[in-house]
Amino acid sequence: MPARSRVLSGMRPTGQLHLGHLVGALSNWKVLQEQYDCFFMVADYHALMSEYEHPERLRESSYENVIDWLAYGIDPQRSVIFRQSDVPEHAELFLLLSIVTPLGWLERVPTYKEQLREVAGRDLTTYGFLGYPALQAADILLYKAHAVPVGEDQLPHLELTRELVRRVHAMLKREIFPEPKALLTEAPKLLGTDGRKMSKSYGNTINLSAEPEVIRKTVQQMFTDPLRIKRMDLGHPEQCNVCNYHKLFSPNEYTRIWEECRTASRGCVQNKQELAEQVIALTEPFRAARRKLAEDRANRYDGVERVLQAGAEKARVLARQTLAEVKDAFGVGHHEVRR
Ligand code: TRP
Repeated sequence: MPARSRVLSGMRPTGQLHLGHLVGALSNWKVLQEQYDCFFMVADYHALMSEYEHPERLRESSYENVIDWLAYGIDPQRSVIFRQSDVPEHAELFLLLSIVTPLGWLERVPTYKEQLREVAGRDLTTYGFLGYPALQAADILLYKAHAVPVGEDQLPHLELTRELVRRVHAMLKREIFPEPKALLTEAPKLLGTDGRKMSKSYGNTINLSAEPEVIRKTVQQMFTDPLRIKRMDLGHPEQCNVCNYHKLFSPNEYTRIWEECRTASRGCVQNKQELAEQVIALTEPFRAARRKLAEDRANRYDGVERVLQAGAEKARVLARQTLAEVKDAFGVGHHEVRR
């Protein structure tokens, strides 16, 4: 039987996951794990590149993310769930790729230029941060991934990975890696609760583990249809953020809800109350997972760490093989690969 195609994706643990991660990445990952051999990675080195001045929350954020992945049904029996820094081969392949990556390729990556410009309060002019995409390439190539699910913002990193593959193959006169394809996540548009782009830094997200009171309060403050001022005004659901949330989170009900909004048989207050209850129901598994973790920790059992350790072991089997092959081709290290 031919091996299944491999997929690798990663997330930077920079804080708690929110509804945007759910519709953007997690729902996609869950589908992919049915069809591919998936590697899902906590990209803690990548996070450290921008958080290095305040690393104290990094390890806890990594756990927080993985708790949510597991609670949502990303399945460690099926997919390899691991933390980047537990697999030292990432750092080693990153070094080898750094040697052959022209500076110009890194300097022209749009996310790099944008972050240097936009991110305030941190010094991102480090040697490591410039190499961010080369580390990402190492993540992907170490597992010879065929496909990488990413959002549009990550496409330049994937393109750089593909260019690196061609460059390395030309230099070594040998094909080692498949050229990874982007699986573009066509995430439905989910705006923040204030109608702007959803982002932790705007404070307009709803965290997956938020308590019900917080969810009720946040939803109650959401902006609605600007053309619907009085209760009896007819609504325009496509222009209402609350209605758009219903479309995503009440998929079986939303056509009725939208119709009731259009005909003013439902008001915005009811609309928000129902959305809040829907989001509360949908996020219950994430709160339950945290209660379970607290209980486990009280009993000195760390289930998340166990998942990560088992994942790292599985990941390393493949990572070691690939790295040995690459080192051999570059003529460094001892001879591991027989030819
Ligand atoms: N840079 C990605 C992001 O910020 C995270 C990431 C790290 C990643 N390594 C990866 C994504 C490898 C896909 C493949 O979203």
